[in-house]
Amino acid sequence: MNFFYPPGATPLDPDEAAGLIPKHISTQADLNAWEQLNIAQGDQWAARQTQRELLDEGFVRDLHKQMFDKTWRWAGSFRNSHKNIGVDWTQIAVKLRDLLDNTRYQIAHQVFHADEIAVRFHHQLVWIHAFANGNGRHARLMADLLAMRLGRDRLSWGAGSASITSAGKLREQYIAGLRAADQGRITELLVFARS
Ligand SMILES: Nc1ncnc2c1ncn2[C@@H]1O[C@H](COP(=O)(O)OP(=O)(O)OP(=O)(O)O)[C@@H](O)[C@H]1O
Ligand SMILES: [Mg+2]
Repeated sequence: MNFFYPPGATPLDPDEAAGLIPKHISTQADLNAWEQLNIAQGDQWAARQTQRELLDEGFVRDLHKQMFDKTWRWAGSFRNSHKNIGVDWTQIAVKLRDLLDNTRYQIAHQVFHADEIAVRFHHQLVWIHAFANGNGRHARLMADLLAMRLGRDRLSWGAGSASITSAGKLREQYIAGLRAADQGRITELLVFARS
């Protein structure tokens, strides 16, 4: 099948695409619908994990697994190939541990307010790009869970203006926010995540 990639999406290599579980899928629209159902199940699973530590490698991987386990055989496993975005794949576990440690420190010492901790965490997590696919959606849900754990509402990621702004425009704003954060400016992404 041919995959259609929106701007800012990371292409799968053929080995990864071979890990597609549903056999009946032949179009991107079918795949999107299938993924959405799987992600909704992951979302429901996440809502039940009230007692679990979120900032833990096991949780990060389990969440990806729950979101994509009916879609990709490698759901919940770190990528083992190079991508044009993300850290060298051999560094994923180390960089993730640093991020989890730093974020726990930020919470314990209230280095930033809760939303900013969650959004900075999101930015760093997609930057690591731990998985072959699904990093954007997984890292947004991780940030949502973290924000809620810190007593905040779930983040909205542009959904509040979705009726007047096209999906393409929202995507542009999101990617622009990530790029600004790459340069050390977090405000744009922070505003977007609450818009
Ligand atoms: N220039 C960039 N800088 C930082 N992060 C980026 C950039 N471009 C893309 N990303 C991140 O990578 C994600 C795409 O990676 P991937 O395809 O693994 O995730 P996804 O969940 O399938 O994507 P999507 O968010 O489109 O559903 C984007 O959602 C975004 O979070
Ligand atoms: Mg993708």
